Amino acid sequence: MLIKIQDIQQVANEVMNMLHEEEIEVINDFHDAVVAKDIEKIDELFKVVLFDVEDHFQEEENMMLQNNYGYYQVHKSDHDTMREKLAKYFERWLAIKSPIELQGFLENEFKKWLILHISKWDTEAALHLGHAH
Ligand SMILES: [Fe+2]
Ligand SMILES: [Fe+2]
Repeated sequence: MLIKIQDIQQVANEVMNMLHEEEIEVINDFHDAVVAKDIEKIDELFKVVLFDVEDHFQEEENMMLQNNYGYYQVHKSDHDTMREKLAKYFERWLAIKSPIELQGFLENEFKKWLILHISKWDTEAALHLGHAH
């Protein structure tokens, strides 16, 4: 298991907490396939990860826009950094199919990024989006 639910800070917005729980499940399944070096499963789950991450980021960005949230741009640009990284690693996966490379990315980059992003940007945004969403 790459990320435990306790690793992730709870935020003051239930939609965001739900998005994070979903994402942890998807990422942990993906990480299992990567560790098992199951090429077919990685092919399948990488697309699920891309879809899920995009859904997570877009839902947050929509909520921030609807609430005229002041730090929208800087929060979105942190999402964009991860969007670009994932796109780059997906292209590399299609070209070289290296589970080792993906394992390094998940364990050394993605996990840290997600924990930090949630404890900083999502926690801040959630305070302004409130409980009602
Ligand atoms: Fe988030
Ligand atoms: Fe976010």
